[in-house]
Amino acid sequence: MKKVGLIGWRGMVGSVLMQRMQEEGDFAHFEPVFFSTSSAGGDAPKFAPATTVETRLQNAYDIEALKKLDIIITCQGGDYTTEVFEKLRAAGWSGHWIDAASTLRMKDDAVIILDPVNMDVIKRAMAAGGRNWIGGNCTVSCMLMGLGALFNAGLVEWMTSMTYQAASGGGAQHMRELLTQYGTLNAEVKSLLDDPASAILEIDRKVIAKQRSFSDAEKANFGVPLGGSLIPWIDKDLGNGMSREEWKGGAETNKILGRTGNEQIPIDGLCVRIGAMRCHSQALTLKLTRDVPVDEIESMIRDSNPWAKVVPNTREASIVDLTPVAVTGTLTIPVGRLRKLAMGPQYLGAFTIGDQLLWGAAEPLRRMLRLLLA
Ligand code: HSE
Repeated sequence: MKKVGLIGWRGMVGSVLMQRMQEEGDFAHFEPVFFSTSSAGGDAPKFAPATTVETRLQNAYDIEALKKLDIIITCQGGDYTTEVFEKLRAAGWSGHWIDAASTLRMKDDAVIILDPVNMDVIKRAMAAGGRNWIGGNCTVSCMLMGLGALFNAGLVEWMTSMTYQAASGGGAQHMRELLTQYGTLNAEVKSLLDDPASAILEIDRKVIAKQRSFSDAEKANFGVPLGGSLIPWIDKDLGNGMSREEWKGGAETNKILGRTGNEQIPIDGLCVRIGAMRCHSQALTLKLTRDVPVDEIESMIRDSNPWAKVVPNTREASIVDLTPVAVTGTLTIPVGRLRKLAMGPQYLGAFTIGDQLLWGAAEPLRRMLRLLLA
């Protein structure tokens, strides 16, 4: 049985990954070795149906211990990848490295894995001896799970995305901070809310005063209030007017699709953080390469993979099925608001949502593991 090292299995993405791996019975197919960056020597977890031989947590920085593995799957984060990956390869390790972090994503010898969309790219790289398999940016992966069929059919001339990204994209602490902010704002006006005769403008005045006077501790993670507001910038400032998250949209989509040079499709937009918990949503405008009827587009999306779901473009279906509340905790990728825009028959509007911890992070990793074990 292949030995698979699991690193960062206790964090938020790692916990979702462990849960999915148990649900799919993945642990029956390899011998897991659990690592820790902080508590080596402690008890390893027992995820059923595990064939765990090593019952102690190993040191995640021990290159000799890592070298014994056939496959490593890490959700430990970019700093860990930076610290360990090159040292391990330099020590002669030629196993498979599966990683959720962005550190290695754009390297020439790395494939961004999203097998329902780019199985051909993955299979080619496997046949060519590829060893580095990196999960994509969550927004990109969720978008491609919904709209990938149109890209693969050569129907997209360009695309622009306007995102509505959840707090979880920042991390677990960001989710806690968002909810704490909501609670603080509610507490500030609770007595006025309880009184049906109170004036809404007084409630509004107290809320904005509270948001504007949040202490540093109350906004330690986002830096500004997010509860009852939004943040129109995600990740680093690249210095050219673009955020790193926006840059990833174009760079990673093309890499996932295996498009390089002048085959690349222009993809750009604005990335915005909103007060949702763990689902990233995005409004898309696509310029199609030709006029394709909406019902054909719907069929292509529906048939592209078992998780993409077309939501009828009606008010009722949209407000019920096309929301973070509907999608959280599921692998379903709804695509709705599909209609031709006023600009002309080649302009398509769409709205899509994905759980950024599932298709956006954990799911492509465990599926790659299964491909390597097959
Ligand atoms: N960068 C994403 C976000 C999360 O901040 O929402 C991970 O891809």
